[in-house]
Amino acid sequence: MSSVPRLLLFTLPIVFAACASTPPAVSDAASVGADAQGPVGGPSLREAAAAKGLLVGAALSPSHFGEPLYKTVAGREFNALTPENEMKWVNTEPQRGRFAFGPGDALVQFARDNDMKVRGHALVWYQAIPSYLEALPADELRTAMLDHIKAVATHWKGQVYAWDVVNEAIEDGSSGMLRRTSVFAKLGPSYLDEAFRAAHEADPEALLFYNDYDGEAAGSAKSEAIFALVKRLKESGVPISGVGLQSHLDPRRLPDYAAVKRNMERLVSLGLTVNISELDVPVGAIDGDMATKLGRQAEIYDSFVGTCLQTTGCTGVTLWGFTDKHSWLNIPEFAQYRGTGPHMPLLFDDAYNPKPSYVSLRTAIARN
Ligand code: G3I
Repeated sequence: MSSVPRLLLFTLPIVFAACASTPPAVSDAASVGADAQGPVGGPSLREAAAAKGLLVGAALSPSHFGEPLYKTVAGREFNALTPENEMKWVNTEPQRGRFAFGPGDALVQFARDNDMKVRGHALVWYQAIPSYLEALPADELRTAMLDHIKAVATHWKGQVYAWDVVNEAIEDGSSGMLRRTSVFAKLGPSYLDEAFRAAHEADPEALLFYNDYDGEAAGSAKSEAIFALVKRLKESGVPISGVGLQSHLDPRRLPDYAAVKRNMERLVSLGLTVNISELDVPVGAIDGDMATKLGRQAEIYDSFVGTCLQTTGCTGVTLWGFTDKHSWLNIPEFAQYRGTGPHMPLLFDDAYNPKPSYVSLRTAIARN
């Protein structure tokens, strides 16, 4: 386990106080490419990651493309993106058989313009689904699921390098069961097998992931259930490529980093890849003044991402956003579970100034 060097923590507030009054060194160009310098000197995140053969991504939404800095910073810093909402079922097939690909296409175009990879998210999830699914009997629901996967994965065939095929299928808590409240539960456990096979048939080149939260560290009921599930899928010949560990961290309940590494290693030993797929680190529940909160946040970014970077088979990290201005943890409905906000969980502040977490992540990538 590593931490932000003491000297860095001491000097960061000075650097960032300066940044607060001086806009970051970015232009308003829509497309920046892979060779732009980072905002505090030195390489951008994507340059640091490219040197290590890693992906560094962010969840993006075209609803923010009206802000030039949003596009500039995203293009400068990341070599991969995940659509935050635009490829979810409720948005891609809001009515049965009627598809809407425009917002997802806008992200794919942005990725093309900026030489970024796209991770499709998410084909089968119990949330963000249209209400017509609820009423379908099992046989019709199965057909609807397979039709949906085929249509969506075919539309973006060759344009996404990976799909989150099934998202969050396992219960919270200690049961380790498949989620009983999911509309897909009525299909029985083999719906996962069928979903992966259908995605593979539609886009044989895409990497196919199971994606979930709270399963980062070996030993929890969730991580044991995820391991058992993907082991069964792999051993059954289901075309699964890897596991996305979402990593929506809660500083009050951080996972044990050694147990995270063990978990990553055992998943890799199954012949899978792993990655950190939705990282954020809210500061609301961290004690102390703002400089202390941001310094601790930077340490967590460094240590947690370091566990991935030190694990062969962990291919990269995606953050769930990149500017605190646009984080799901600004929405009270979600924020309440992370203590009292503001949570400021990402790498750039509301004005797109880099935070200590930005420097610590870049340092971690360069060091490991
Ligand atoms: O688009 C409407 C907008 O028209 C309306 O004015 C507004 C009013 O609340 O709602 C907007 O939609 C919201 C959408 O986010 C865009 O902001 C939905 O209500 C809201 O439910 C939706 O939340 C998303 C959530 O998934 C559910 O789909 C979050 O943005 C998104 O960050 C979150 O992402 C999930 C991952 O997909 C899976 N892992 C957990 C992660 C965080 O919950």
